[in-house]
Amino acid sequence: MNVRDSEHMIAELKSKENYELTQDISDADLILINTCSVREKPVHKLFSEVGAFEKVKKKGAKIGVCGCTASHLGGEIFKKAPYVDFVLGARNISKISTAVNTPKFVSTDINYDESDYAFGEFRGSPFKSYINISIGCDKKCTYCIVPHTRGDEISIPLNLILNEAKKAIDSGAKEIFLLGQNVNNYGKRFSSSHEKIDFSDLLVKLSEINGLERIRFTSPHPLHMDDKFLEVFSQNDKICKSMHMPLQSGNTKVLKEMKRGYTKEWFLDRALKLRSLCPDVSISTDIIVAFPGESDEEFMDTMDVIEKVRFEQIFSFKYSPRPMTKAAEFTNQVPEDIASKRLTFLQSRHTEILDEIVAAQKDKIFDVYFEELRANGGVAGRSFNNFLVQVNGSEELLGKTLKVRVDNPKRMVLYGNLI
Ligand code: 5AD
Ligand code: SF4
Repeated sequence: MNVRDSEHMIAELKSKENYELTQDISDADLILINTCSVREKPVHKLFSEVGAFEKVKKKGAKIGVCGCTASHLGGEIFKKAPYVDFVLGARNISKISTAVNTPKFVSTDINYDESDYAFGEFRGSPFKSYINISIGCDKKCTYCIVPHTRGDEISIPLNLILNEAKKAIDSGAKEIFLLGQNVNNYGKRFSSSHEKIDFSDLLVKLSEINGLERIRFTSPHPLHMDDKFLEVFSQNDKICKSMHMPLQSGNTKVLKEMKRGYTKEWFLDRALKLRSLCPDVSISTDIIVAFPGESDEEFMDTMDVIEKVRFEQIFSFKYSPRPMTKAAEFTNQVPEDIASKRLTFLQSRHTEILDEIVAAQKDKIFDVYFEELRANGGVAGRSFNNFLVQVNGSEELLGKTLKVRVDNPKRMVLYGNLI
């Protein structure tokens, strides 16, 4: 979502303020840092980075801090880094023109409604077409800062989404990537009157666009994975068969403390139903270990779900207490050494599972949509079920969907040959 927010700010600055991108920081008139605040580490990184930029920037160049940490810290950022020129919170980024022209501008209103703002056109890559379908999040999971930095959930009107998708296809993209905090809650609230529509209907409408080959999205919420959604997902040929299912914990009591709204059984039922409807699907997940009060036994429930679902990809994190969240006030925080042990245990077991999954891809044939030149030579793209696949080749493959046989599968990349 931050990548897309950055593209939106670049589009505004190009069309309204005559800015151009530069690769050379000492040549820049403006340095924007778009920030995350979901865990503590990126917040610390922000201050070391702005300090480094201050040293190399040319005289008079402005520095703007944008995104979730901007929402959360607001004008406090000036106290720690007085050379910052403006602070623009997530969901206020349509004000970027005003920000660059107003000394010490701060705008962090999490109720500001940008859901029907038609941003200008800019994409970092013609092959990766991100499209926001909602802003904010209504869920209030007890560990999560996002509702406090991105505000309540509002869906973006259908006509804006369809226009964005058509524009992307007209400029050569074959794939669109839908973004939202809880994409499969789409249609619950619009800022003005709107026809009744849910996420499954949106997927079907988008799939009817001529020239569009692939639809991806992130993140769906396990709670809203109803049968209609799983059926549309598995039956519609344009929807890529990769699903992100953020588990967070495999223990029902911990899930309740997290306020996730589902049980271990519901999650397993949905994931296994998905595997049976859609045998080629890849399932990825997010897991937090050592949430306050999590016992060894409760943690082992998370491991049990990992054994049963055999996720193709896991993003795993130690719980990090965040300001403004309920869980930060819980008195039963888990000691750091236990958190580290659980994370290592989980990651090493998952590496073993992954090695088996990866080895099983040898000799498989995938349709790969090539979109990236790799630093080590070669061209890479995604299979329909989201494996990163690389072949020898150069620019002429970019933007094409071609068949590849995998002959050297590795953990991060499946190497293969065009057939
Ligand atoms: N501590 C650790 N991980 C977190 N996430 C969100 N909040 C926290 C936190 N306080 C993780 C969740 C989420 C992902 C984007 O970041 O797993 O799905
Ligand atoms: Fe955060 Fe929960 Fe919303 Fe995801 S669903 S953004 S974890 S509050």
